[in-house]
Amino acid sequence: MNLPRPEDTAALGRALADLLEPGDLVVLAGPLGAGKTVLVQGIGAGLGVPGRITSPTFVLARVHRGGRLPLVHVDAYRLRSVDEVDDLDLDADLASSVTVVEWGSGLVEQLTDAHLLVRLTRGDSDERTATLEPSGGTWAERLAGLRVSARS
Ligand SMILES: Nc1ncnc2c1ncn2[C@@H]1O[C@H](COP(=O)(O)OP(=O)(O)O)[C@@H](O)[C@H]1O
Ligand SMILES: [Mg+2]
Repeated sequence: MNLPRPEDTAALGRALADLLEPGDLVVLAGPLGAGKTVLVQGIGAGLGVPGRITSPTFVLARVHRGGRLPLVHVDAYRLRSVDEVDDLDLDADLASSVTVVEWGSGLVEQLTDAHLLVRLTRGDSDERTATLEPSGGTWAERLAGLRVSARS
């Protein structure tokens, strides 16, 4: 999927938000500046989370309440082991929330039976691409219903 502008990445996030259910884990992969946080901002908007979502790099994890579902936003950039992931105690909120983890690939998949992996790539220009990789659960069926609408 081509994402020419930041608005397109946010729109993908909003569309994904419509599919989200309690207990979902969404893993975001891609280099610095690929648009992972922009995507989470779109998810937050789609869930109706109030306030601005910023990168939780120094906080590691933030819970945003007040939307359709609680959104747990994690930045695992500084976490390089499964033990450190355990220390965050994500399981406490996992079942009732949507958990989205930047830099989570290879670290957090074990937290749940199913997850959605979103790979973002970045070229020279502003153009980004997203690849969605469903894993387990009902993700494949749900993605069939993904409807990305243009910037509102
Ligand atoms: N098509 C695009 N999609 C997402 N972000 C884009 C795009 N084009 C340019 N950008 C810019 O790239 C940056 C992405 O930052 P961010 O989402 O914080 O990346 P990450 O969290 O992956 O490090 C933002 O400054 C955004 O405005
Ligand atoms: Mg980020």
